[in-house]
Parts: sequence; structure tokens; C-alpha cells
Amino acid sequence: MKKWLVFLVCIFVLFGCTNVKQEDMGTENATEATDAAEENGEVKDPTQSETEEVTSNDTKASETETQVNDSKTEEAVALVIDPESLRGLASAKNMYIGAAIDMKYFKEKAYQDTLKNQFNMLVLENLMKWASMNPNREQFIFAGADIAVKFAKENQMAMRGHTLIWHQQLPLWLTEGTWSKEELLSIVDYYVENMVTHFKGSIDSWDVLNEIFEEDGSFRQSMWYKTTGEEYITHALVKAREMDPDAKLFINDYNVEFINAKSDGLYNLVKKLVEQGVPLDGVGFQSHFIHDQIDYDSLEKNIQRFTALGLEVQFTEIDLRIKAPVTDERLVEQGEAYKKLMEIALRNGVTAFVTWGISDLHTWVPGFFIGYASPLLYDNKYNPKAGVEGIKVALRE
Ligand code: XIL
Repeated sequence: MKKWLVFLVCIFVLFGCTNVKQEDMGTENATEATDAAEENGEVKDPTQSETEEVTSNDTKASETETQVNDSKTEEAVALVIDPESLRGLASAKNMYIGAAIDMKYFKEKAYQDTLKNQFNMLVLENLMKWASMNPNREQFIFAGADIAVKFAKENQMAMRGHTLIWHQQLPLWLTEGTWSKEELLSIVDYYVENMVTHFKGSIDSWDVLNEIFEEDGSFRQSMWYKTTGEEYITHALVKAREMDPDAKLFINDYNVEFINAKSDGLYNLVKKLVEQGVPLDGVGFQSHFIHDQIDYDSLEKNIQRFTALGLEVQFTEIDLRIKAPVTDERLVEQGEAYKKLMEIALRNGVTAFVTWGISDLHTWVPGFFIGYASPLLYDNKYNPKAGVEGIKVALRE
């Protein structure tokens, strides 16, 4: 009797999963692409034992198992959130505090612990970029990102989706192809359709478009713009809204945090999109700053002109790099800078405060900005730096 019950539950869960998948994919082509990915895709779940290599077929089975286990876990263990942690304090202010992550570091206990204890939002630093998700034209590899989705759900964290349309980290099939305008627009549609449909219900906010401006405020001369003009922008936004009406849609960029030519370009575009009724919910200020070169007044005025259009503003990739040598004095200044940024965020209704990493041990900064270091909230040993207390002070006020 008991065995039969277990069998029936398994059948139910299996069919349930299959149905959801097919419904979600929307188009026949999309389903084929997923199948292809699942046939080829291999994924290692970093939340599980280190040596466990899981192929896609096994993934289906283990997903089913996990669903059954999850419901048990939900009953048994409720997530305990320290009200004095970053996430406890931010949640009390109805704000997201997030971090960019790379699951290869999940094997470090302190990495996972800091992530789930201190943050209520996560974003994949690289994995959701086009080259990783859709390396061959008919192949989507969702399995890795799905692990992050599961982790976020288990730990009651929201997710940002980064990023749909960008000019970097693109697959070769795309960059080496020669495309007509119609072809490229249908590639945009197809990609956005597959991505947003697959992650429907799991992504709070998508960076639908990333870094589409030059420094002078004109449109970036990317393959997208050169071939389609501004049309790719509207295509991506419309398709994303169509596929997941509940996800918030963002245009994200760097050097648009202060009032300048580039943020004027962004402002003019989004004002036009809002007036035309093109779906758009907000702008992302990446916020890769040098710790002592932040124009706070300009930042605040800039946020206000975007929110006046009815848009949200999120700080999406904060890091406050310090010019070497990193002295105690500079670290104290950095803590103060984090505090001021959080104060501005709270005063102006910024909805997410996301740092581009967790600890100084793993950050893109020294490799990209030569001569700079130590940009994040936790040091190499995951000890909180001055910025953590600075942010907490701001959140408690
Ligand atoms: C960066 C990652 O941090 C690096 O690991 C990667 O090598 C290159 O991309 N703006 C963005 C992010 O929108 O996607 C970039 O992330 C940093 C700048």
C-alpha cells in the first residue's frame, strides 16, 4: 500500500514537471533547443558533494527527488534570518540587498554562509550571459543556472537576471555570423523568448539591455545597433514583457550614475520609451566606483530624474575600488562611502542595492582595474569590513 502511494506520488511529480516544462517553453523550437541542451549539458551541483558530477538525465531525476525533499525540508526547517544581519535590516526596509555570485566558490562554506545569511537577492556574475546559455544556435544550457534558481528559492532570495542583450560575452555563432536586420531581430526575439520563458517566475528583475550607450550619450556602435538601429531595444523589451509579465525590466549601464552626457543619453531614451508605452520598469546603475570619487549630489539628482518618470532605480553592480596601497584610512573611508550610498538609496526609493561579489577574495576588480583592490564588503577571510557596519547604521536609521 505504502509502496503504491510512493509510486503514485512519483508519477504525479514526474508528469507535473514535464507539463510545466513544455508549457513554459512556449514554442516547438524552444522545446527542441532545451532537449538538445539537456542531451549535451553536463552540470555539477556545487551545493552537493564536490565530486558528484551530474549529467542532464540524472538532473531530471534528482530534480524530482529534490522537489519531494524540499517539501519535507520546508516543513521541518524554517530559514532563520538574523534581524540584525544585512538582509534582516534591508528586508525590514522593504529593500533588496544582493550580491553577484559564481557557484564555483560554493565549495567555500564561508562563501555560501555569507551569501545566505547576509543577502536577500543574488545575480549570477557570468553564467546567465549569452555565451554560456546558448553556446550553439540550437542549444540552450539551463541546468547550471537552474541550480542557482533552486538555491535562491531554498534560501528565500530574489534573483536578478543578468543579462539578455549585451555586446560582450556573446557566442561565436552569433558574432561571426552575417545577419540582416530581420534575422538579427528574430534572433533577439527568439533568445529573449527562450530565456524569459524558462526562468519565468524566478527572476524579479531582468537586465534586458546592458551597456547600450557610448560615453558621449550616443548609442553604442554594437552589432545590435549597427544592424537594427534602435529596434532591437524595443524588440527585447516587448518580448520580455510578453513572456513574463511579472518580471521587472531594466536597462543597465555604467558611468550613468551621475548627471553627464551618458546618463543624459539614457534619460532621453527611457523617457521616450515610457511616453511610447514600451514596457520598461527601471534603470540599473552599475555603480563600479572609485571609493573616494563619488559625486553624491549628482547621484541623488540623477536618481530623482529617473524616478520622476515613474521608473525604479537599482544599484546593480556596486564595488568601491581602492587605489593601492589599501590603507586602514582608505578602508574607513570606503566604509563611509558604502554608508552614504545606502543612505541615498533609502532616501530616494532605490529598490535594490547589489554588490558585484561578496568578498575581496573573489572580485573582478584587480584583474580589470590595474592598481586597484579591495572593493567589496567582506575581506579575503570573509570578515565584515567597515562598509557592512556603515550600511547597517544607514538601515537602522
Ligand atoms: C564581468 C565579470 O565580473 C567578470 O568576471 C567577467 O570576466 C566580465 O564581466 N558590467 C557588467 C558585468 O554588466 O556583466 C561585468 O561582469 C562587469 C561590468
